[in-house]
Amino acid sequence: MQDDWLLVEPAVTNLREHVERGGLDGLRAARSMTPDDAIEIVRAAGVRGRGGAGFPVARKWAGVVAGSGPDDERFVVVNLAEGEPGTFKDRALARANPYLVIEGALVAAHAVDARRIVVATKAIYRDIVDRLVVARSEFDAAGLLAGLDVQVVEGPDHYLFGEETALLEVIEGDDPLPRQIPPYLYGLYTTGPQLGWSAGVDDSPGGPATPSSNPAVVNNAESLAHVALVHRFGADWYRSLGTPDSPGPTIVTVTGDVARAAVATVGLGRQLGDVIEDLAGGVRPGRRIKAVLPGVANPVVTAADLDAPVSYEGLAAVGSGLGSAGFIVYDDTRNMVDVAYQVSRFLHIESCGQCNSCKLGTHDVTALLERLVLGDPPATSAVAALRRSLAGVTDSARCYLPTQEQRVIASLLDRFPDDLAERLAGVAGDPDVPLPKLVDLRDGVATVAAGPPHKHPDWTYHETPVRLTRS
Ligand SMILES: Cc1cc2nc3c(=O)[nH]c(=O)nc-3n(C[C@H](O)[C@H](O)[C@H](O)COP(=O)(O)O)c2cc1C
Ligand code: SF4
Repeated sequence: MQDDWLLVEPAVTNLREHVERGGLDGLRAARSMTPDDAIEIVRAAGVRGRGGAGFPVARKWAGVVAGSGPDDERFVVVNLAEGEPGTFKDRALARANPYLVIEGALVAAHAVDARRIVVATKAIYRDIVDRLVVARSEFDAAGLLAGLDVQVVEGPDHYLFGEETALLEVIEGDDPLPRQIPPYLYGLYTTGPQLGWSAGVDDSPGGPATPSSNPAVVNNAESLAHVALVHRFGADWYRSLGTPDSPGPTIVTVTGDVARAAVATVGLGRQLGDVIEDLAGGVRPGRRIKAVLPGVANPVVTAADLDAPVSYEGLAAVGSGLGSAGFIVYDDTRNMVDVAYQVSRFLHIESCGQCNSCKLGTHDVTALLERLVLGDPPATSAVAALRRSLAGVTDSARCYLPTQEQRVIASLLDRFPDDLAERLAGVAGDPDVPLPKLVDLRDGVATVAAGPPHKHPDWTYHETPVRLTRS
């Protein structure tokens, strides 16, 4: 994309370089106005969160301000956990310019009047952690953090770490187990009644003097980079880059059965097929695209819908969604039941088990799909049982993970009936069809995590991969 201010090349390696390229103009502009006005510009630009749900950033910020009591401390939390299969955008951004992410977090802190910022990423993303820590120190040395506490927290390599309430648990030193109450109501280090996983009795004499819920803004790292740019270039500039409902640019990752893997910035609204062709060179010679999976949070896009715009509304119109804009391409050699097995197995393993319907439902669906893929098909009536499991998997769920299971698996089975018929007829498939958990993406090459050790559904690690129906 022309004038790519997100994945800048060459990468910004110190604060001085960031300033030379216009960095800090956004922060200066934001700090020169009232917090309300700083929110209004983000609202005018129509920035939507890039962590997956596309929630309007300004509405989230205004909600945190409105929901805070007089004794509350507000927090800004940067979500750089990036665990979605097929997505590498936040790491690419943090490699290209970690200063822009921190600048965006400082704008957010000004807008919601937060004194504390936490940047949460995975300990295994060593290069990212190191760059963030250095960047933080440079902001501090330049006097840009006066009165603000900015912390870099290293979290575990679990998918749920990226879920916003689990992220808060990790920041507080616990495991990434989602809470029941969203961050804009219950944030960090609350002293009010805690109804989440870490529910506990306040045994201080007489209880807390002033119960506080400390609402937290949790934003994806890319969302905050957008905010810094909106304050630098203005809302009109931002809106000129996308569609009315999906303003701005977005960082897209393309992997799977393509000529080369890619991570690049595109203006929202371009056709999905064109994006795959331009960024990743399309599928290999002689093959055609069969399906595109936007991570594991939204239904599959079939070849018939490749002209759908890459935007929130464009992909929703074909029964899918943008998610975190990580597109996994499958060519016509793949059977989508095999893909469904991989997705279900991933979600089953990553499910934390706080909700029975989620852990057991994803198990049952995975076990049935596994039999189909291994050429040991159950009776056709088992498909009805699978659909019943899918219908109930979200019962009393704390978080969105089982909804992902429901939407993605149902779409793969519904939209590829011939593939299901083939597996029901006993034709064995490929249990290791790729669902890329990206470790790196450079120069067109995606490096994926490969075991051993393999994570199992009880979150222990073993030499052997998970098989639910056969040893
Ligand atoms: C299972 C699960 C995993 C998630 N992983 C991530 C992640 O790695 N990074 C991220 O930014 N958001 C992730 N999210 C979404 C966050 O919960 C949250 O919506 C997001 O950080 C909000 O930021 P935004 O409004 O700027 O998009 C995940 C959600 C779920 C349910
Ligand atoms: S819905 Fe699933 S992943 Fe989410 S908290 Fe419950 S058991 Fe854990």
